[in-house]
Amino acid sequence: MTTEATRRTVLFVSGAVALTVGCGGEDGGTGTPSDTAEGAGSPGQELLSVADVPVGGGRILGAEEIVVTQPEQGEFKAFSAICTHQRCLVSEVADGTINCPCHGSRFRIADGSVERGPATRPLPEERIMVDGNTVRRA
Ligand code: FES
Repeated sequence: MTTEATRRTVLFVSGAVALTVGCGGEDGGTGTPSDTAEGAGSPGQELLSVADVPVGGGRILGAEEIVVTQPEQGEFKAFSAICTHQRCLVSEVADGTINCPCHGSRFRIADGSVERGPATRPLPEERIMVDGNTVRRA
């Protein structure tokens, strides 16, 4: 009887520890693989300087899997840098489009829409904010 009660207590405590560890990994920003697998950074994360984003062009941040564009002077946009065709990382921003090297898809810098396939879906927009001279995740 005493042994059974002790065993239950141990199992309960083990379960509580497992839940605590799981929660810490989800929202703690600990750099665990589950945090990086989603490709989403933390709000407020510094991405780059506004001066690094050419007017009428953009800058690809490969590690963050995000492309920041400036379609018009002072207007900043950001999109996923993962092509919606077969998930290649886009490689170039030129002549008003974000270009994928794998099969040639091109996406407009103003809204991420498809200018040329084979991709059929736009690049998802990412939320950013301009904080002084710095572009950050919103
Ligand atoms: S993965 Fe980008 S065009 Fe195919």
